[in-house]
Amino acid sequence: MATVPKQPQQQVVTTSEAQIAVHWREEEYYYPSSKFIGQANLNDPDILNRFSEDKFPECFREYADMLSWDKYWHTTLDTSDPPFWKWFVGGKLNASYNCVDRHQAKYKNKAALIFVPEPENEAPIAVTYRDLYVRVNEFAALLRDHCGLKTGDRVTIHLPMIPELPISMLACARLGVIHSVVFGGFSGEACGLRAADSSSHVLITIDGYYRNGKLLDHKAAADVALETAAKEGHKIDKVLVWRRHQGQNASASPFVQHRDFWVDEILPNYSGEIVPPVSMDAEAPLFLMYTSGSTGKPKGCQHRTGGYLAYVTGTSKYIQDIHPEDVYWCMADIGWITGHSYIVYGPLSLAATSVIYEGVPTYPDAGRVWRIAERLNVNIFHTSPTAIRMLRKAGHDEPTKYNYHFKHMTTVGEPIEPEVWRWYYETVGKREAVIVDTWWQTENGGFLCSTKPALDPMKPGSAGPGMPGIFPEILDEMGEVVPAGSGKAGNICIRNPWPGIMQTIWGDRERFVNQYYRKYCKNPNSKDWRDWPYFAADGAVLAVDGYFRILGRVDDVINVAGHRLGTKEIESACLTVDEVAEAAVVPVVDEIKGRVPEVYVSLKPGFQPSQEVVDKVNRAVETIIGKIARPKHIHIVPDMPKTRSGKLMRRILASISNRGATGDITTLANPDVVEKVRELVQGKEPVAVGEVAEDIKQFGKED
Ligand code: PRX
Repeated sequence: MATVPKQPQQQVVTTSEAQIAVHWREEEYYYPSSKFIGQANLNDPDILNRFSEDKFPECFREYADMLSWDKYWHTTLDTSDPPFWKWFVGGKLNASYNCVDRHQAKYKNKAALIFVPEPENEAPIAVTYRDLYVRVNEFAALLRDHCGLKTGDRVTIHLPMIPELPISMLACARLGVIHSVVFGGFSGEACGLRAADSSSHVLITIDGYYRNGKLLDHKAAADVALETAAKEGHKIDKVLVWRRHQGQNASASPFVQHRDFWVDEILPNYSGEIVPPVSMDAEAPLFLMYTSGSTGKPKGCQHRTGGYLAYVTGTSKYIQDIHPEDVYWCMADIGWITGHSYIVYGPLSLAATSVIYEGVPTYPDAGRVWRIAERLNVNIFHTSPTAIRMLRKAGHDEPTKYNYHFKHMTTVGEPIEPEVWRWYYETVGKREAVIVDTWWQTENGGFLCSTKPALDPMKPGSAGPGMPGIFPEILDEMGEVVPAGSGKAGNICIRNPWPGIMQTIWGDRERFVNQYYRKYCKNPNSKDWRDWPYFAADGAVLAVDGYFRILGRVDDVINVAGHRLGTKEIESACLTVDEVAEAAVVPVVDEIKGRVPEVYVSLKPGFQPSQEVVDKVNRAVETIIGKIARPKHIHIVPDMPKTRSGKLMRRILASISNRGATGDITTLANPDVVEKVRELVQGKEPVAVGEVAEDIKQFGKED
């Protein structure tokens, strides 16, 4: 039985989320075309009946039955150890078999992956299902025999968007080795910390890759990762290095004998080898994906084999509308959960053709994405609001110049502004494509809220209702349900478990319970799932039509360009700079990336503000986390606004950064510092206070 610590003493909060009324203009509906409906996988309204609450949990058999099982399960959902739910218990299967082997009979000559290199003079490369089978088997043999890896071991993969990334993942899955992919843009240090946390003895990397026209040295990050892991008391024994260009080396990093190995030099030893897929328990972990939480340390979300694969396969089929004949392009990075679920596992399990683009969407110009779509005849397109905003800004009319036709498009990762949604619909989708705005998280495995593409009308800016078999609700701080149509915001929660939910946080069961289930658990001794709502840490409002509009995080996580960064992680990076005494990180609105971090630091006595300190803080953030966390501004302030008990008031700094009202500051220990900081950030003349987004208003409220 999990122990659920008591609720901490209720803090004094001036406004709870549920008290905040949100007045949106109700957006008009858009309807899917009859052409789309005619061919859709999900065009039967009976889905709601099949997945109604009284059919839970057996409704999810429908997804699991889309997979090939070595042994059928005996229990669909086991709730004996809440909230550690078990799915399809007793079943056995292999994820690599499901994504590769089972397609050999019918689709072996079909492209499984199409790799589009960033340089336009390098032709796209198709990897057929047969190639994929051969390459996954050979690499699995290498992992097993050269690295001695066995079922249950962990491997860290730090690769950019190249076919070798899914090949490495599927080779691990074939052996039952748990992969932990670290986003290629994360620094060596970030990679090393994650490798140490998962005790990976093998790191898979590459010499270099293209980004914005430059061939970057990536192997250098592996060297830093090894040093960082060593400092954490963990030794990585082997580094496997893929090669970006045959016969070349893009990295200046020296090879360490018996530790670093070029994959292309040892792979020929395993030529033609076939590795039988290990039949895994449905509950065996498939992978870890680290994500930022509300403490400094990223947490390893542990995803199971059977439930996860069933959930991403079912949702790829019904919500992404993937058929085997589709050319599907999810323009995200495999290093995030979207890429795992909706570039690799979901589409490949359905025998789709999945496009992998190496580079920056606007390289070398604003037409690149649409040229790729035209050339490859992509008909399903999936990306984030940040990418959409960026493409819109760079080339508003570019899509009209290219002859591609999408039947379906997705937006994921952040709230999308209705006017951006309309550009996506009208200009990118040419009014032909249906759009799904899918809301979910790393922890969830797959979509939680979305419209059903052929069945529900779309509403710009709203994710839509709960997915089939998912029952979301909005709760206020006291655990009361906020009714639909009340216009009040609250915490979006999921009332029931689902197969895609993570199993636990790697090595930290207690944190898993505390983070997601403590807040609204009705009875810690109950084995009834109804007593354990999942707390997502997102604010949302529910309209009368049952559509959820997601407002953003209610914790101290900043969603930068659709990627989660913990403010505490950035703050600890700032604190590594000698001169810095205190650091506070707040989100600030950015036209393209949605939110970006802004840093406030105060200096230790004897140090003066200088550009040098600013540069040092910038460098620290980039080295410890990565360029993705680069602050918009770094403000050196004389002091931080604090309560009398010494608590740093990030909420006030967030208001200053976003030109909002600072609210009541009379209870602060140092109210006069607020005006000093305001002047420093906004200038001498007081600026007009404007309307601030809900998530910014909420930011730091829990401090
Ligand atoms: O705040 C929500 C936002 O992204 C967070 C999850 O981030 P991550 O774990 O990195 O996963 C991103 C891809 C699934 C959520 O807590 N978010 C995700 N999708 C949406 C969204 N916000 C609004 N609308 C969405 N469709």
